[in-house]
Amino acid sequence: MKLGVLISGRGSNLQAIIDAVADGRIPAAIAVVISNRFGAAGLQRARDAGIDTLYLNPRDYPDRDAYDAAVAAALQARHVDLVCLAGFMRLVGPRLLDEFPNRILNIHPSLLPSFPGLDAQRQALEHGVQITGATVHLVTSELDGGPIVLQAAVPVLPGDTVESLSARVLVEEHRIYPEAIRIVLQGGWTLAARRFVRVAAS
Ligand code: GRF
Repeated sequence: MKLGVLISGRGSNLQAIIDAVADGRIPAAIAVVISNRFGAAGLQRARDAGIDTLYLNPRDYPDRDAYDAAVAAALQARHVDLVCLAGFMRLVGPRLLDEFPNRILNIHPSLLPSFPGLDAQRQALEHGVQITGATVHLVTSELDGGPIVLQAAVPVLPGDTVESLSARVLVEEHRIYPEAIRIVLQGGWTLAARRFVRVAAS
């Protein structure tokens, strides 16, 4: 099985995936890491691990469709089975979604459906919730709204800042993202309306 990972920045979730591939927790190889930002630190993490990297500049394309078609073509050329968004700060449009139906995962730093979109940890803190967390979900046309594969809860502590809360959420992100990738690759699941349902292995 082959993974394609899409990033925009730091790449700590990418690193968690690289580590899980290296120690066999994810039964797959990372075929390519694609970034929409030239200076994304995650590109260096990929190079350090000997993984093929690609920078695709959105400004080189007339619109989202054209950009997404280029991303899809790069993934298909490498026979990618599962696409993992790991801090990829762009909406994924139909040109990419249709190429990988139910084959694109995203990690989001809240317990969805609470706090979709940007700055989820700040949203949680400002709302005053006492528990937040992380969610891995299948990507659909609804922003942060696809079927949920795995979640982990993180308590909000008195005195938390966006930074301290984000750091604890990130620990859970790095734990559940490789696990969710393993579950999706392994198969034995189905979708019942919007529920991700794991069925008993036959
Ligand atoms: C993570 O918090 C992830 O949940 C969100 O963007 C951040 C990316 O961090 N989608 P990193 O680039 O994986 O370190």
